[in-house]
Amino acid sequence: MTLTPDELKADLTLEQLKELVGLVEYDAANDPFPVTAQDAVCFVVGNATQTATFYQLALGMELEAYRGPENGCRDSKSYVLRSGSARFVFTGGVTPDSPVLDHHRKHGDGVVDLAMEVPDVDRCIDHARAMGATILVEPHDESDEHGTVRIAAIATYGETRHTLVDRSRYTGPYLPGYVAATTKVARREGPAGSGRPKRLFQAVDHCVGNVELGRMDEWVTFYNKVLGFTNMAEFIGDDIATDYSALMSKVVASGNHRVKFPLNEPAIAKKKSQIDEYLEFYDGAGCQHIALATNDILRSVDILRDNGIEFLDTPDSYYDDPELRARIGEVRVPIEELKRRGILVDRDEDGYLLQIFTKPMGDRPTVFYEFIERHGSLGFGKGNFKALFEAIEREQEARGNL
Ligand SMILES: [Fe+2]
Repeated sequence: MTLTPDELKADLTLEQLKELVGLVEYDAANDPFPVTAQDAVCFVVGNATQTATFYQLALGMELEAYRGPENGCRDSKSYVLRSGSARFVFTGGVTPDSPVLDHHRKHGDGVVDLAMEVPDVDRCIDHARAMGATILVEPHDESDEHGTVRIAAIATYGETRHTLVDRSRYTGPYLPGYVAATTKVARREGPAGSGRPKRLFQAVDHCVGNVELGRMDEWVTFYNKVLGFTNMAEFIGDDIATDYSALMSKVVASGNHRVKFPLNEPAIAKKKSQIDEYLEFYDGAGCQHIALATNDILRSVDILRDNGIEFLDTPDSYYDDPELRARIGEVRVPIEELKRRGILVDRDEDGYLLQIFTKPMGDRPTVFYEFIERHGSLGFGKGNFKALFEAIEREQEARGNL
């Protein structure tokens, strides 16, 4: 396994990256749909200009490319931002008849594309077609003065898609049609001598999809058959049920675990599941949260809070519970440091992880972020689900949606 060009931008060694996002070795020879890595998380938002500035100011991301009316894209603006190996693209509608605005009217701010870098677009599409996937964009070349990309797209849950891109013959800042852009936002100083600010996150760890009641297994099968993803972990029923709300979740991953997609569906409980609330306000299936890997979650959370990012509260009882203390054992910081920041901790047979969840980022109670620091654990915080969901329900109740 070697670092991808995007991963090299995170200034991490392969060993550090493996630990950070839980990578595993695998043999790509028999993979019908080899995936190199996640390429980008693409959002449609109500105001891409301000969203791009917000992500630079509050999440410390760097602007690196732009496309809009000034360079030939009449009806929308897109800003490409980076933090380490993670790339986000924010698109907003410019003209009143822009289809981007139709999408936004229905779904609000949200993720439209979980793009993946693949070494052979045509091979992936041939396999996807044979397995019955919907091909949204047929493989084709796009070129500019920086070279050529091969690109295609397949449909997944809701109105979400997976663009597949081979950028091995391309050296531009993002894709043909985009021009290089740079951040004008002033940065905090990084570690002494580094010459650059320290990032708040280094990589995308996983992207979670919420799908309709009874459809989770259908989408797990889709990822198994079409993308050759394997099942990682499974949470069902009581694992993540509280008194009022419940969900079921399964996780699929690419061979090397660079791309990990947990899939949730609501489960029947006394009151409305948080997944039902998402499905109602997003108007269908969609991406629920994106987990961002950091190697210093305490520092990241302190700065993000200072920058105005709001996190879910964790009850003090979570930390004072002797069962929790026994379950998690020794972690790298005193538990009081975690309690002060509301950071959750979970341990499994491979190690432990620290994690925290933001409140929804937009106006609708839909997409949010997780920040995660892995120490050997390849899990998703199963032991925290109940404590977390009880915290989410208090928020849901405050919005009158429980
Ligand atoms: Fe997560």
